[in-house]
Amino acid sequence: MKIGLIGAGNMARAMARGWGEPVLCADPVAGRARELARETGGQALAGNAEVAQQADLVVLCHKPAQLKEVAAEVAPAAKALASILAVTDLQMLKQAYPDRPVYRFIPSLPVEVRQGAVVQAADEPQDAQTDAAVHDLFARLGTVVTVEDRLVDVAMGLMSCAPAYVALIAEAQIDAGVRHGLRADQAAGLVVQTLAGTAELLRQREYDTLAVRREVTSPGGVTARGLAALERSGLRTAFDDALDAVLGGTR
Ligand SMILES: NC(=O)c1ccc[n+]([C@@H]2O[C@H](COP(=O)([O-])OP(=O)(O)OC[C@H]3O[C@@H](n4cnc5c(N)ncnc54)[C@H](OP(=O)(O)O)[C@@H]3O)[C@@H](O)[C@H]2O)c1
Repeated sequence: MKIGLIGAGNMARAMARGWGEPVLCADPVAGRARELARETGGQALAGNAEVAQQADLVVLCHKPAQLKEVAAEVAPAAKALASILAVTDLQMLKQAYPDRPVYRFIPSLPVEVRQGAVVQAADEPQDAQTDAAVHDLFARLGTVVTVEDRLVDVAMGLMSCAPAYVALIAEAQIDAGVRHGLRADQAAGLVVQTLAGTAELLRQREYDTLAVRREVTSPGGVTARGLAALERSGLRTAFDDALDAVLGGTR
């Protein structure tokens, strides 16, 4: 399946690196498209229409506000489309691209290392062969979780923003360690490995967060004191507020 990317920005680059195969692409900044094509061994084309003509699957990687202007160039030739645009539901996509298979996904930055969470909007079957091929393509980037279309933005608020949240959490922990005398590189190694290891542990324990917490938290022990301090500082409220803030900007 020949992949054609419309827009060669951050998320297009992350997905292309994750797929690890040559892509066709176009971007208003020609150098950006050339760079992505060079990196993947693919081809930067003169414009969006050329990508639509040559690709088996067009992946929309521009900003949501550009849906209509891009569709004017891409719709005449595109065989099948996958969108990663935030706040652009299936109905809007199918209006812009009628009469062909259209899929809605939301990736997250770790797709670059094939460890991403990818949300897919649930839909009726469209074309069995294309449905399967497109799902397999995105599954190569990590774990695909299918949710109702109306919940895609909520899911996005959890996973596509989270690499920034996790980086901030790591930074805060590293700074705390440095404040108590660890070198930054020592603290970073400890914190980041613990994040990665805990993620794997949670996967193996079927995402049972409470079980993992209980294992680390002996009664009256240091972890219990640390957790209580985090709760007092409003950790849960902070994440609730973050999701509200994300959705406030999308609704
Ligand atoms: N970043 C994330 O974590 C994330 C996660 C999930 C979904 N998304 C979605 O992914 C999409 C891309 O996000 P991003 O972070 O990768 O943004 P980005 O880095 O700004 O990339 C968008 C690219 O599209 C280009 N573009 C603008 N107009 C175009 C046009 N008419 N035709 C073709 N390309 C055009 C932009 O060029 P200019 O810079 O010249 O405008 C830019 O290179 C967005 O719709 C966003 O909602 C992003």
